[in-house]
Amino acid sequence: DVPLRVLAEKLNIHIGFAAGNNFWSLPDAEKYMEVAKREFNILTPGNQMKWDTIHPERNRYNFEPAEKHVEFALKNDMIVHGHTLVWHNQLPGWLTGQEWSKEELLNILEDHVKTVVSHFRGRVKIWDVVNEAVSDSGTYRESIWYRTIGPEYIEKALIWAKEADPDAILIYNDYNIEEINAKSNFVYNMIKNLREKGVPIDGIGFQMHIDYRGINYESFKKNLERFAELGLQIYITEMDVRIPLGGSVEYYLKKQAEVYRRIFEICLDNPAVRAIQFWGFTDKYSWVPGFFKGYGKALIFDENYNPKPCYFAIRELM
Ligand code: XIL
Repeated sequence: DVPLRVLAEKLNIHIGFAAGNNFWSLPDAEKYMEVAKREFNILTPGNQMKWDTIHPERNRYNFEPAEKHVEFALKNDMIVHGHTLVWHNQLPGWLTGQEWSKEELLNILEDHVKTVVSHFRGRVKIWDVVNEAVSDSGTYRESIWYRTIGPEYIEKALIWAKEADPDAILIYNDYNIEEINAKSNFVYNMIKNLREKGVPIDGIGFQMHIDYRGINYESFKKNLERFAELGLQIYITEMDVRIPLGGSVEYYLKKQAEVYRRIFEICLDNPAVRAIQFWGFTDKYSWVPGFFKGYGKALIFDENYNPKPCYFAIRELM
């Protein structure tokens, strides 16, 4: 039984997961870590690099929780995918609790991006510099950043990240952009314009939070191709495939395995795809049941850390 990371290495890609909060202190931490280091060669801290954790006061950074993730990863020969430098969620109260001028907010953002990226310079290889900056209808998303700074916060963040670590891979990450649609068209044009202007952006992240019905695979394949043609590296950053709880589990697990298989098939076929990551790995610890009511069991290991049909489906392909 060859672990996924060994197969991934042969394919020259990375396979990984978002690590749960303080996983080292879970009641079953040992089991958690054993499976994580056996199967994966890339790790994303699931929450610890977000503003509310890493920048709790205007003049104080809190690197400790993220550090533990990074140390675990590096100790176990994994690379680290940083998440995330600019987002509209999980912002600290000091930031959202008052109105800032454009100049003030630009200064705050510059300090944040440069401080965080240089702190992890050389250890975090890939950064989700900007997360979810676009709405489903294909416009810039309303957020503190957009409202106060305007769309240029995106290029500024990329430029500052590049300054702080010229070797890091800088990506734009979002959900519901897997298929060709209004949102992915907007993202495509946005990144194309950034590249034409010479703004440093190396890759695109498809979150891939989907369900057992799957997606339009033909459209996904074409979408990957057009982003690859821009010269971008492609990352599947947060994959999970949820199923309804309370139905015939066996039926849905089969459907789920088929969805994982189809997505992996297309990804492994496109050389621009550099890494595939799941948002967690055991159904015991997943954001899905809390966020998508009535759904769960979205990951490749079950609650007891046993591999599921979807695990075997992707392993067979690799
Ligand atoms: C989620 C975390 O998993 C939860 O623990 C947290 O409460 C909310 O955020 N897209 C993202 C991730 O980019 O940061 C989100 O993570 C899931 C959706």
